[in-house]
Amino acid sequence: MYTVLVLSALCVLVVQAQLEGALDSYYKERESMIEDELAASLGGNLTLSSREISANRILMREKYKEFDFAFQNPSHFNFSRLDMTYRNHIGKSPVYSIMKRMPKGAALHVHSSLMMDAEYMMQLTYEDDLYVCNSYGKMKLQFADGPPALPCPTSWRLLSEVRKEPADKERIDNILSKEFKMDYNAEDDINKVWDRFQKAFRATKMLLLYRPVREKFFYDALKKFYDDNILYIEIRSGLDELYEKNGTVHDKLYLARMYQKVASKFASEHPDFIGVKTILSVARKYNIKQVRDSLSDAVKLKEEMPDFIAGFDLVGQEDLGRPLADFIPALMEVKDKLDLYLHAGETNWFGTSSDENIVDAILLGTKRIGHGYALIKHPILMDAVRKREIAIEVNVISNVVLNLVEDVRNHPLASYLALGLPVVLSSDDPGVWSADALSDDFYVTFMGVASRRADIRTLKQLALNSIRYSALSDAGKSDALRLFNEKWDKFVDDLIESETTQ
Ligand SMILES: *[C@@H]1O[C@H](CO)[C@@H](O)[C@H](O)[C@H]1NC(C)=O
Ligand SMILES: *[C@@H]1O[C@H](CO)[C@@H](O)[C@H](O)[C@H]1NC(C)=O
Ligand SMILES: *[C@@H]1O[C@H](CO)[C@@H](O)[C@H](O)[C@H]1NC(C)=O
Ligand SMILES: [Zn+2]
Repeated sequence: MYTVLVLSALCVLVVQAQLEGALDSYYKERESMIEDELAASLGGNLTLSSREISANRILMREKYKEFDFAFQNPSHFNFSRLDMTYRNHIGKSPVYSIMKRMPKGAALHVHSSLMMDAEYMMQLTYEDDLYVCNSYGKMKLQFADGPPALPCPTSWRLLSEVRKEPADKERIDNILSKEFKMDYNAEDDINKVWDRFQKAFRATKMLLLYRPVREKFFYDALKKFYDDNILYIEIRSGLDELYEKNGTVHDKLYLARMYQKVASKFASEHPDFIGVKTILSVARKYNIKQVRDSLSDAVKLKEEMPDFIAGFDLVGQEDLGRPLADFIPALMEVKDKLDLYLHAGETNWFGTSSDENIVDAILLGTKRIGHGYALIKHPILMDAVRKREIAIEVNVISNVVLNLVEDVRNHPLASYLALGLPVVLSSDDPGVWSADALSDDFYVTFMGVASRRADIRTLKQLALNSIRYSALSDAGKSDALRLFNEKWDKFVDDLIESETTQ
């Protein structure tokens, strides 16, 4: 009896020791699994200086506060609404204010005419010599020396004259401000959402075809991005024919030359700004002949301004436009003269023409993929993107507004970050949804898409990627990197400083 007791007590001890050993190795394995995943994620292998570690501690303390509050109060998690109401609360967020101050490197996916918000566009309607034709709420705008000769069912009037009568001013300003905004309707399907988006685009264009206004707009847009701590921009732009108020119309190539002139003026006035390059683009709904014409304009401009023209792209809704596959011969012919930066896979569909645009983008040698939202469904293509170092230009807020994803926690970027794929963040058309040049996209990504554990290394790697995967020459990249590192060190110092002086 006695020996049985001793034996069973021993057994219990042995079992307990075994359990403890097993638990010990379990916890170790658990920790190393989590650590291995973080190390494999974007930025996970960056080594931080001791200053950066201090700054990171401050950043993460604030992140955990906001993040954990949302985890416990999911109804307060506001990054998943097409109407952008999170902006009403963003001002109070310490993480957001850190994002604003942070140098973000470059913005590589931005459409040139949609960089400014409706409020700014309204201001442009106060420029001199603007005529309006208002027939039953349908509005046309034209700058001119005198009443335009263009058709108008009612009559052309100077907008400044219309505004002299307070009641008329209110009515016309109401119509105008609606034109520049993308209104919100939760019921709309993706095609209707794109219609509303294009409506805002058309209204904006009415002002931007006038040469003096386009110059002012472009300069102010660069300023907005620069003020958001961006040091270099690649814009996508079609070749619009600009006009003067005396009726002179410039040829298509003029716009690219104007961009270069304004960009170099801006850079000379802002020594801590690297510059601008242009990716010429054409609507994908156009036919092959029209696209070939655009390609030949692009080749001409590339020869004329090799440093200013980065390459070529096709833009517009992929589900409805022509697939890249329609343009393969045309694009193959120019491949050696012109780099491609193709939109591909900005869709929720799988196995459709829009989805398979990613295959053609890769095979055509695209330098980066615009959006690549659908890439997550294609393991072989993801491998190719990694091996060929094709950066994915992710625009999270654009994808929310244009109805690909409601809850940003479900954005495929979460997986791209976890897989450590070559990602850059950009903002697509921030003016249309009144977002910051880039801070909003960084904030929403950091708080809503990336892991709770993602820290300053993720942010720094995203900024570094934007330089690495830019169209800058090697020398240009070194300059940009040097400038970025200076700004980054200052940001880190300021963050630590603001903490100790509080
Ligand atoms: C770290 O990861 C980045 C991509 O996120 C990669 O480009 C770089 O080569 C890696 N560095 C090392 C030392 O592994
Ligand atoms: C989210 O929005 C609600 C109102 O819709 C607001 O009360 C709440 O404070 C917001 N949450 C955060 C974290 O900003
Ligand atoms: C029209 O205006 C532009 C710009 O002010 C000027 O360069 C051009 O000479 C003018 N053309 C005519 C025909 O007056
Ligand atoms: Zn785009």
